[in-house]
Amino acid sequence: MRTEISFAPPAGIATELLTVLAADAQTEKGNGTKPAPAVLTTDPAIQAATAAVLSTGEFKAGANETLLLHTPAGLAAKRLLIVGLGKTAKITIHSIRNAAGTAVRFAKPRGIRELALALPSSERLLDAIVPVEGATRAALEGAFIGDFDPDTYRSDRKDQSIQSFTLVVPASADRTAIEAAAAEGVILGESQNFARSLVNEPGNKLTPTILGQRAAQMAQQVGLDWEVHSTEKLKELKMGAFWSVAQGSAEPPALIVLRYTPEGVTEGPILGLVGKGITFDTGGISIKPADNMDKMKYDMAGGAAMIAAMRAVALLKPKVRVIAVVCAAENMPSGTAQKPGDVQTAMPLAPDKPGKTIEIINTDAEGRLVLADGLTYARQLGATHLIDAATLTGAISTALGKLTAGGFANDEAAWAKFEAVLRTTGEKFWRMPLGDEYAELIKSDIGDIKNTGGRYGGAITAAEFLHVFAEDTPWIHLDIAGTAWVEETRPFVAKGPSGIAVRSILEWVRGF
Ligand code: BES
Ligand code: MN
Ligand code: ZN
Repeated sequence: MRTEISFAPPAGIATELLTVLAADAQTEKGNGTKPAPAVLTTDPAIQAATAAVLSTGEFKAGANETLLLHTPAGLAAKRLLIVGLGKTAKITIHSIRNAAGTAVRFAKPRGIRELALALPSSERLLDAIVPVEGATRAALEGAFIGDFDPDTYRSDRKDQSIQSFTLVVPASADRTAIEAAAAEGVILGESQNFARSLVNEPGNKLTPTILGQRAAQMAQQVGLDWEVHSTEKLKELKMGAFWSVAQGSAEPPALIVLRYTPEGVTEGPILGLVGKGITFDTGGISIKPADNMDKMKYDMAGGAAMIAAMRAVALLKPKVRVIAVVCAAENMPSGTAQKPGDVQTAMPLAPDKPGKTIEIINTDAEGRLVLADGLTYARQLGATHLIDAATLTGAISTALGKLTAGGFANDEAAWAKFEAVLRTTGEKFWRMPLGDEYAELIKSDIGDIKNTGGRYGGAITAAEFLHVFAEDTPWIHLDIAGTAWVEETRPFVAKGPSGIAVRSILEWVRGF
């Protein structure tokens, strides 16, 4: 998708589809309120073109509600699309991101390949919601996110991607700042879509080896240092927890390491991004039921988020060192698979810090095993701050549903830093508790810890398992099991892989 920024008056823009935004200003009526949709523009031609239809009450400017007008009088555009932002008091930067996605997804099935979206036309209107730079970035993110469809394997696929997207900003806006914000929006949108394209790949097409190749290819393109290792290196590093999952599969594991070192930065924090890269999770010997097992191709969504975030890091060049470690493997039942009751020894952090022993209770709790060694490795490589992302537990969806992901942290400052980015990124994470009482639940009689903590609080005991390996390095754990796959189409995003966490991880990195 090509993108352009225009500072011209929207009425004069010759395009297949001009999108304007509208809000519901709500007026008092009797005991309640009545919708009062208003187009967010000061342009008299657009006001005139929309006046009649707005007065009918058939369009209420609800969030992502759309209304299309053909050959609007007085406008150079062939079509005028009004997208609602919802009630004025509730409009945020996310409303703009979603509205841009809605406009793109409105155009796609209609064969429209080119569109423009006008931000609210005066900075006064816009400032009430969000500064124009933030709106610019969000609109471009939303346009890219909306343009994505997981249809690569459909023979009847008609490529309906948008070829050109023009964002129209107020003439008074600062050109340099707007262009920088737009460039960020493009990088974020494209990186999130890169994660989604990886997550969409089925297990037979995206093995651990191929995930490693895709990461390496991306790293080469954007100038990151990279290494992809396999079985031998796992053995050399004594990654007994990671290997215990990989050992059951005919597909070799991949230990993917991506490194970003900004020029001249030799001290300060090193951020460690650790991702779960299970390219298919059958459950292993503790095999999963058949229903919905197909979905377990997305069990590498945390790893994909880290790889994609590194792409954005490489392109946006923050002044902080970042290392990503993605542990990719397939969790299979076989003659070589690990068994419940087995005892595994995790990677030692240092020669004088032997690896912890893990009693395997359930081979389906494999994510925490690969992450245990991933976290240790990131620390060994010098990470001073850790963040991991994983489709770790079904229990997180029981707790938070499918709209909000879980966040855990062993450090108040680390969480505060992460939480602060959510206002910009629009991603929903809710902090879950950790605590010694929960840690008690994963003590083992046979070894140091066991890999499940019983029936209740499953997302928390899983996080406590990871905590054993993060120790007191400031650490954030994101459980994205409930949010990595969108089950229902929404006006601004296709159903399928969501690409959750990419934007927030990137923004978190930039906070250092
Ligand atoms: N990959 C699953 C978690 C998952 C479930 C992700 C649903 C996405 C959607 C994970 O490896 C798993 O199987 N977890 C088990 C842990 C249990 C055995 C302690 C679970 O959540 O049931
Ligand atoms: Mn599992
Ligand atoms: Zn899993």
